[in-house]
Amino acid sequence: MKSEGLPDHAFDGRPVIGICNTWSELTPCNAHLRDIAEHVKRGVWEAGGLPLEFPAMSLGETQMRPTAMLFRNLLAMEVEESIRGNPIDGVVLLGGCDKTTPGQMMGAASVDLPTIVVSSGPMLNGKYRGKDIGSGTDVWKFSEAVRAGDMTLSDFMAAESGMSRSAGTCMTMGTASTMASLVEALGLSLPYNAALPAVDGRRRALAHMSGHAIVRLVREKVRMSTILSRQAFENAIRVHAAIGGSTNAILHLLALAGRLGVSLSLDDFDRLGRDVPLLVDLMPSGRFLMEDFCYAGGIPAVIRELGALINRDSVTASGSTMSDIADNAECTNQDVIRTMENPVNTTSGVWVLRGNLCPLGAIVKPSAATPSLLNHRGRAVVFESIEDYKARIDDPALDVDEQSILVLKGCGPKGYPGMPEVGNMALPKKLLEKGVRDMIRISDARMSGTAFGSVILHVAPEAAAGGTLALVRDGDEIVLDGPHRRLDLLVSDNELALRRKHLRAAQYQPSYSRGWAKLYCDTVQQADQGCDLDFLVGASGDVVERESH
Ligand code: FES
Repeated sequence: MKSEGLPDHAFDGRPVIGICNTWSELTPCNAHLRDIAEHVKRGVWEAGGLPLEFPAMSLGETQMRPTAMLFRNLLAMEVEESIRGNPIDGVVLLGGCDKTTPGQMMGAASVDLPTIVVSSGPMLNGKYRGKDIGSGTDVWKFSEAVRAGDMTLSDFMAAESGMSRSAGTCMTMGTASTMASLVEALGLSLPYNAALPAVDGRRRALAHMSGHAIVRLVREKVRMSTILSRQAFENAIRVHAAIGGSTNAILHLLALAGRLGVSLSLDDFDRLGRDVPLLVDLMPSGRFLMEDFCYAGGIPAVIRELGALINRDSVTASGSTMSDIADNAECTNQDVIRTMENPVNTTSGVWVLRGNLCPLGAIVKPSAATPSLLNHRGRAVVFESIEDYKARIDDPALDVDEQSILVLKGCGPKGYPGMPEVGNMALPKKLLEKGVRDMIRISDARMSGTAFGSVILHVAPEAAAGGTLALVRDGDEIVLDGPHRRLDLLVSDNELALRRKHLRAAQYQPSYSRGWAKLYCDTVQQADQGCDLDFLVGASGDVVERESH
């Protein structure tokens, strides 16, 4: 270590702080994290620690194929073994893109050292022709407009340039912003971590102060599991509902809880989110963007507004309780962060559906859906794979109307593999041209946190695991009864049993004979359990019995 230029006093028994950095030029949302790491180091040195930065696999949501989610658990394994295997006393996790935050937290949780997160921070608001536009959310809208002939491709490209104009993560309440918000609601970062823009000097000051905080957490022996209690997860679920958070967060929180041995189920999201209105008016469920959310007061203002719905004595990495954070918070723009009396929408969170089509569960985000479609009966138009969907969705001969229900198979955790964000299938061109903008869509896939629509996701068991989804055929009737949380295929049990006899589940499973993808397909859990690998659930701790020499 002396070869790195460290003086003798660096080894005087001070806490060694690992800075786990997912910096990568292939992950634009994390590309500024080397700069952020330097500010963390200043804080660590100043507080009497020794900072040592190390890399971890970076998962760029827009780059990785077949989907970044396939590698979340691989990142978690790498982070876990890097933390356990090296002689470090505490760790700072630097990440931001959708899967880097949960992957890092899952790995760190299985070691359970004192831990704090510093997120990338969101990009500045997108701008196009005088209007604010949001990452992802407006891409989906503009791409539909191009397909419907309402926007030219060159205007689309100009909008894209105005959308991604600074460092940082997607600035809608997509998965990255949702996960950064939930880190804060869990108490695993300093207050205001989620919303301060990536380029804001205050984010660098927050990184500096996080360096202070991790040294204190090590000295006070506050392990990650001390902060991530069941109460902390309840706070995260309620904040998730209040901000209109991404559906992906459900998978990540379930997997994280599994690492910590915290009892958490899919139904907790429906039950705990039920009393929480949508308070934050951000895309994709609302109008504003993360920069506006920052100036309005960020997560602390939301926590203050949620009042008694939050477990206020929960401890946080800052040393303050949620109660202290709420008492010091202020909302400065009630258009962006509404009051409980005047919410954006009285319905929020996620609805967890059950029925013969999803015996282990499926979810729908009501705040992103068309209310009239949440109680709907329609004929299935079935796509056996994403390739089948792409080949036929714009076929003028496709037998589909606005009452139909689009069903997509083979896109679950095992089936794709990695459960890609394709559940918000674009509508058939011929219906777009008629002005139809939403339909019920059902799949075992995920959906981008920036997306919207009446989209039923995470159907479990998935088609590749032999779920009922695999048995659906064109023309079958499906009933969604959202208020009663039911999703049923109106086909008799006898007929389903007959179809099952002829089912070749293998048709929905890719064949991988080696490498990570094989390990993943052989051991990944279903969506209702968070898609961790079955042998990674739980913790191994930080003790290593044997020395290297
Ligand atoms: Fe990385 Fe959206 S693509 S945060």
